[in-house]
Amino acid sequence: MHGRISIVLISLVCCASAGCKDGQEQAGTTPGTRAAPPPRNEQPKHLPQPPHREPKVVPPPRRKKSRAERMKEPQPGVLTREQLTHMLTNARDMWMQPERVVKELAIPAGSHVADVGCGSGYWTFRLSKVVGDKGLVYGVDFDRNAITYMKERVAKKGVKNIKLILSKSFDTRLKPNSIDLALLVNVHFLKQPNEPEDSQVSEDFPGFYKSVHRALRPGGRMAMVEPDKDTKSSRHVSTDDIARQMGEVGFKLKKKYGILRGNYFMVFVKK
Ligand SMILES: C[S@@+](CC[C@H](N)C(=O)[O-])C[C@H]1O[C@@H](n2cnc3c(N)ncnc32)[C@H](O)[C@@H]1O
Repeated sequence: MHGRISIVLISLVCCASAGCKDGQEQAGTTPGTRAAPPPRNEQPKHLPQPPHREPKVVPPPRRKKSRAERMKEPQPGVLTREQLTHMLTNARDMWMQPERVVKELAIPAGSHVADVGCGSGYWTFRLSKVVGDKGLVYGVDFDRNAITYMKERVAKKGVKNIKLILSKSFDTRLKPNSIDLALLVNVHFLKQPNEPEDSQVSEDFPGFYKSVHRALRPGGRMAMVEPDKDTKSSRHVSTDDIARQMGEVGFKLKKKYGILRGNYFMVFVKK
C-alpha cells in the first residue's frame, strides 16, 4: 500500500514540474519536454509596453531672409482710423483738384479702372461715379485697415461697382489685362513698411509697377499724382527720373500736366 501511494505522489510531482494541466501534455510539445521560452529580445505581450515616441525632428538652422523675400511679406495694417478719415478732408480738394484731374483723364463710362493705394477712397468713389453702373472700380490697398475702412464705406453708401482688393506690397493682385486705367495718388513716394532702411525708390519699385503694367489692357493708361518734393525723406525723384523708371517697366509718358501746385500729374500708356 505504501509503495502505491509513493508512486502516485512521485508521478504527480513530475507532472507539475513539466507544466501539465490536469495531467495532460501541452499541445505542440513532445511529451516529457519543456515549452521553449520566448526569445530574449521579445517582450511578453502582457507586460506594459513603453510609450511610442516620434523621433525628434531637428529644424534646419534659421536662414536670414533675403531683402526680396522681406519685401514680399504681407503688410500689417498700419493706418489708423484717424489717418484714414483725415485723408478724406475737403482741405485736400484745394491742391488735389480731384474733379479737374478726373475730368482730364476723360474716362469713358463702362471702363474698368483701379485706384491703386486707395486708402480711404478719396478717389475711388469719384471714379465709381464716372465709370457708372456698367463700369467697375477696383480699390486696391495693401493695408488691411484701409480695406476694412473701405468695406464699411462701400456698404454704407450701397455702391455696387467698387471691388476691394487687399494687395501685397509689390503685387496689386489685379488680374492681367483687366483694367483700362490705373490711378496712383501719393503712393510712389511712400516708404513701404517692410522696406529696409537703405532702400531707394529706383531699386524697389519695378516689381510693383510691373504688376500694374500686367493688369492694364493693351493701350491702357496709368496716371500718377505725387508730391514734387518730399520733405520727410530723401525719396523724392524728379519727373524725368520717374519717366525713365516707368520706361524701364514698359510705360511711355503720354502727358505731363502742370495744373497741381506742389504735385506732379503724369499719364503713361502701356507700350
Ligand atoms: C498717402 S495714402 C493715399 C491714399 C489715396 N490714394 C488718396 O490719395 O487719398 C497712400 C496709400 O497707398 C497705400 N500703399 C502704399 N504702397 C502701396 C503698395 N505698394 N501697394 C498697395 N497700396 C499701397 C497705403 O497703404 C495708403 O493707403
